[in-house]
Amino acid sequence: MTRLSAITRGLAVLTILFPFSAIVAGPVQKPSLEIPPSALKHRDDVKNIFRESYNAYRKFAFGHDDLLPVSRRPLDDRNGWGASIVDGMATMKIMGLDDFFNEAVDFVGKIDFSESQTSDTVSIFETTIRYLGGLLSAFELSGKQHNILVEKAKQLTDKMAFAWATKDQTIPWGFIDFTTNTPTIANTVIAEAGTLDLEWSRLSIYTGNDTYRRLAEGSVRTIAGLTDPLPGLAAQIIKPATNEFADNNITWGGGSDSYFEYLIKYARLTNTDDNLFADTWHTAVDSSIKFLLRKSTVGNHLYLAETDNYGKIVHASSHLACFHGGNWILGGKLLNNKTIVNFGLELAEACWNTYASTETGIGPENFEFISDDSFQSSDTIPNRQQREFYEKHGFFITVASYILRPEVLESNFYAWRVTGDTKYLDRAASAIDSFKKFLQVDSGGFSGINDVDDANIQRGDRIDKTESFWYAEVLKYLYLTFDDPDHISLDKYVFNTEAQPFEAPPAKPVYGSGSLLPPKGPYVMKTGNVPLPAISPIPTLSSGA
Ligand SMILES: *[C@@H]1O[C@H](CO)[C@@H](O)[C@H](O)[C@H]1NC(C)=O
Ligand SMILES: *[C@@H]1O[C@H](CO)[C@@H](O)[C@H](O)[C@H]1NC(C)=O
Ligand SMILES: *[C@@H]1O[C@H](CO)[C@@H](O)[C@H](O)[C@H]1NC(C)=O
Repeated sequence: MTRLSAITRGLAVLTILFPFSAIVAGPVQKPSLEIPPSALKHRDDVKNIFRESYNAYRKFAFGHDDLLPVSRRPLDDRNGWGASIVDGMATMKIMGLDDFFNEAVDFVGKIDFSESQTSDTVSIFETTIRYLGGLLSAFELSGKQHNILVEKAKQLTDKMAFAWATKDQTIPWGFIDFTTNTPTIANTVIAEAGTLDLEWSRLSIYTGNDTYRRLAEGSVRTIAGLTDPLPGLAAQIIKPATNEFADNNITWGGGSDSYFEYLIKYARLTNTDDNLFADTWHTAVDSSIKFLLRKSTVGNHLYLAETDNYGKIVHASSHLACFHGGNWILGGKLLNNKTIVNFGLELAEACWNTYASTETGIGPENFEFISDDSFQSSDTIPNRQQREFYEKHGFFITVASYILRPEVLESNFYAWRVTGDTKYLDRAASAIDSFKKFLQVDSGGFSGINDVDDANIQRGDRIDKTESFWYAEVLKYLYLTFDDPDHISLDKYVFNTEAQPFEAPPAKPVYGSGSLLPPKGPYVMKTGNVPLPAISPIPTLSSGA
């Protein structure tokens, strides 16, 4: 076939598939993006931090869930199956730390997932994102040769499947007892019930048993099908026995966060023809733009407010919620919607401001903003100190700790890979400096701190724990920020909410139908029938990327 005829044929095929008016999304990452030579030094720095902090774990806590880096003791708070090892495996592989990785594969072969090694019950959500996600991502990244990783994933998930206790149940219980295989609490939250489908559908592929996918996907379908307090924005607490929401709280923060995150990621990872997932995500984002977006009176920082149980706006945000910038950037790209990408970049900007504003250069756990409609609900009234901080920085701190969370640097990673603006590299480099200066302790391990706005850190100011997401998320996102953009490209991988990358098929031309979901409700908050707040004017955006 000649060149010309190949092109003509290609055009003909394209025209049939996508008439010229159709929307076609481009790649997620900026094409031919390159890192500057100076980036490699930071990349090696991150690898070194991984080595030092993981060696501290190996020395004082190997085989247990976490290291207590100050007291140099182990802690088992994830059922004692070695959470730091399993959660860290994909990072080891990505960094080329094969000795650690091979040791971890040997270790996994000895884990008994059929019973909890501690007396605690098992969290379906935490176990899925850290253990199941870690095992399957490690399996893929190491060339699908270590079948033991899938065997153990199956052993674990066959137990977790008891979270669907009855035949008709579509929403799993949040926690179950591995001895009796019965649920332990009566409610679950949408983040727990709606953040399983990436991992469970992968397991279906590698085991040939479709039940896992069906269960996890069915849970999301149920949540997406309920009458939500605002279109696309599900409430937080849900009763598996009756498939009803038990509150009206809406937030992109903890308890709800990754349900929204996974709607678009599931559409991308599976390329499902069912637009429910991408359209629900778009509808959630659309409602968020209409009802939740605000700008702070100082500094013009863009943020997403929450609603309380009565539909009132609360001007609060959190480190956990700061994944939203990256998620809107990714989803906006997949929907070919620049408006959403730009909002995502601005959300990431405001989240970075929480790092840039403190004495340590690290951001706090919880914070609040003030906008023109503040103080009409359960907003914190700032004390004098908080008010002064707000006047300088455009937000104030309500919980000052940092427990090694990734979300701000996660969104920074998406912003870098999508725009190629080197300011995001500078930010990541600054975070590395802060971590080395303020978090590392004598054991070589890294600890949390009680107050990110106090640079004079004494022993008692430390939070004596290295969460497994330090290895799985913080160090992976930092490393990849400074690595070749073709390594774990956002056009080839989808990260689970624990930063475990899964291989994605080639992208569809665009995700979703382009329309919002048809309205379901009268959309009035159920409790007390208090009407929703009036729509605030949509903040105008500075033009950008
Ligand atoms: C598939 O997995 C489910 C959930 O663990 C299990 O109940 C079922 O027996 C499995 N089916 C087969 C054919 O192995
Ligand atoms: C992008 O999404 C926003 C939010 O739903 C919507 O207002 C806007 O019209 C969309 N833009 C395009 C080009 O579809
Ligand atoms: C939901 O809103 C109520 C106030 O209406 C509040 O007391 C409660 O803490 C909120 N729940 C969460 C998880 O934020």
